[in-house]
Amino acid sequence: MASQSNEVVYRATTTAPVNIAVIKYWGKRDTTLNLPTNSSLSVTLSQRSLRTLTTASCSAKYPADDTLNLNGKPQDIQSSKRTLACISSLRTLRKELENADSSLPNLSSLPLRIVSENNFPTAAGLASSAAGFAALVRAVADLYQLPQSPTELSRIARQGSGSACRSLQGGFVAWRTGELADGSDSLAEEVAPASHWPEIRALILVVSAEKKDVPSTEGMQTTVATSDLFDHRAKNVVPERMTAIEAAIRDRDFPKFAEITMRDSNTFHATCLDSWPPIFYMNDVSRAAVRLVHDINRAVGRTVAAYTFDAGPNAVIYYEEKDSELIAGTVKAILGATAGGWEGPFYEPLAQITAPGVSLDKIDPRVLDVLKDGVSRVILTGVGEGPVSVEDHLVSETGDLVNQ
Ligand code: DP6
Repeated sequence: MASQSNEVVYRATTTAPVNIAVIKYWGKRDTTLNLPTNSSLSVTLSQRSLRTLTTASCSAKYPADDTLNLNGKPQDIQSSKRTLACISSLRTLRKELENADSSLPNLSSLPLRIVSENNFPTAAGLASSAAGFAALVRAVADLYQLPQSPTELSRIARQGSGSACRSLQGGFVAWRTGELADGSDSLAEEVAPASHWPEIRALILVVSAEKKDVPSTEGMQTTVATSDLFDHRAKNVVPERMTAIEAAIRDRDFPKFAEITMRDSNTFHATCLDSWPPIFYMNDVSRAAVRLVHDINRAVGRTVAAYTFDAGPNAVIYYEEKDSELIAGTVKAILGATAGGWEGPFYEPLAQITAPGVSLDKIDPRVLDVLKDGVSRVILTGVGEGPVSVEDHLVSETGDLVNQ
């Protein structure tokens, strides 16, 4: 074992992105390993808008138990099986390196101090677990200088949260369901980098929910156990859609990409409705967003926008940059100043636009008020890169928490 000073604090810091699926992961065939019943595919969103920043550090001077601090609050790691599973897999890989090379410092035996912050408010109702677990796995892997590729590390991040395995890479990422019982072939891989189709934009309509939704882990268990439609979707619908959407991405065929995205969101929510008792993630505001997108597409005469909804009421609308005025311009005209969020790097080209891209008399009048009242803020973003290693450490050289 190499000697190490008690005072040394080893650190690595990374950012990680949020991803929003266009073919949804819903259902587990193994709840411990988080093995999915179907493949899924997502778009990694730009970290210029949304990102998690995580520092992983280890030192002999830390108290014996690993610690995790999230958005300024200490977390009880011992009660989070998922976090423990990720850390233990990463430690095992580090130990293998140390066993093979005795000159390496014995980091695997040191307590960890992990500190993580999101740059978006939790109140925005955005699932932060994907970015959070991806950042945790990437930061600890960097700290341990692990040679594994993002695809190999996706096997570990998946145990934190299924969707997290897709946030280790940028652009367009597929998570292959795999067949093996140990999950070793259930991995995420990049289908195309962000640079392949950089024009993809996402406008998130943040909808305030009256009640907290059924958490996705619990919701998918109910669906798996009770919905007949679910089996049909997993076996017959998704495999064809995966092939078709990968071709649409390869060809940068937005209308095809958009139709598959919308249909898959609808099928996923249909399986929720088909669960017993039924699960409703979309609400009246979500449905108004669906109507808006169809009205815009009809008014323009081609498919320029696609909606998708996760396990909550927020709408994510994908479009191409050239159609920004038609989509974001119209939404801005509908929401007016009541909704926050018309700012940031993706807003600049839109700042001067005052008229709606699509005349509001082409939109179902019921939609206008529902959206105006129900959307609290927007987030303008686009396709982006995977995790980035940075020097903005959240733990100081002496091992203390840094106030950002
Ligand atoms: C609707 O990844 O949050 O967003 O694996 O139980 O942590 P766990 O679930 P999670 O589920 C995400 C579900 C979804 C669809 C998707 O992102 O593919």
